[in-house]
Amino acid sequence: MARKPVVLVTGAGGEMGHGLIHRLADLGAFDVLALDVRGLEPGLARRCAAVRIGDILDRHLLDRLRSEFEISVVFHLAALLSTRAEFIPETAHEVNVQGTLGLLRLALEEARSLGQPVKFLFPSSMAVYGLPDLAAKRAAGRVAEDRWLDPITMYGCNKLYCEHLGRYFARHYRQLAAQGGPGGVDFRAIRFPGLISAFTLPSGGTSDYAPEMLHAAAQGRPYACFVREDTRLPFMAMPDAIGALLALMEAPGESLTTLVYNVGAFSPSAGEIADLVRAAFPAGHIAFAPDPRRQAIVDSWPEDVDDARARRDWGFRPAHDLGRAFGEYLLPNVRRRYAGP
Ligand code: SER
Repeated sequence: MARKPVVLVTGAGGEMGHGLIHRLADLGAFDVLALDVRGLEPGLARRCAAVRIGDILDRHLLDRLRSEFEISVVFHLAALLSTRAEFIPETAHEVNVQGTLGLLRLALEEARSLGQPVKFLFPSSMAVYGLPDLAAKRAAGRVAEDRWLDPITMYGCNKLYCEHLGRYFARHYRQLAAQGGPGGVDFRAIRFPGLISAFTLPSGGTSDYAPEMLHAAAQGRPYACFVREDTRLPFMAMPDAIGALLALMEAPGESLTTLVYNVGAFSPSAGEIADLVRAAFPAGHIAFAPDPRRQAIVDSWPEDVDDARARRDWGFRPAHDLGRAFGEYLLPNVRRRYAGP
């Protein structure tokens, strides 16, 4: 029985999975095998060639996927985000690290059975950075990939280590074994900033205040923002994040000078986001009620990232700056989403 060729998307029902699966289905060039711990909403499931519900930590499930499907690309999106992970750090470590290890192993075995490299696209995060205090954050400005790698969250530690795991699988796997050795996993990672989607809400992250205030105000609901007004983080509209994943997937290996790339698009303060949201949805009421502990996490993340390498190596160029993100993507779609029947 022939195995069906597919692109595997883990965390398929999450925010990025949602955006990616719709884009892959629109492109029509790939059949998607979706994996998530929960069932997908019908509109999303319909766009997949196959959907499997289960835990990425279940090794037998991953083996069964390999027996049924020929997996040439893995988008490993499943993760527990930074806020949720701080409540259950050991579980987060299992999902984020052990889960990634299992998927890397799947990719390696698949590459060996196909006789060609398997691309492994990994969303890393600005959470890998850890600036010691606000003064350092302000002085650092746009942070390059090799600076300030002292994360203070379990999620940030997990993402940083998984970048190293990816590099190990791509370049050094079983380097002392008599046979075998590296080869097979074509690991490519993007450190994303906070992401904002018009169609979905994140859950369990610490950059969630931006999408939360937008979606709350659009429904006329009050929102208490858990960081100070002057808090600045890099953000990106979801379509640009998905575009970046696909552009990195397509990039010729020879043009890549690193395995891990920063990307950014705009870097507003929470107050600037609130002003844009208030102007669009005066009925919503946005207040600021900083939570010191979540504030400390965002204060350790850079206020902007240096993405010159991504721009140079694979032509990264986000279509949306702050004005276009709100004017052309977020506001029209969010208005439509919450308009009455
Ligand atoms: N958006 C993520 C979070 O807040 C960071 O990658 O956890």
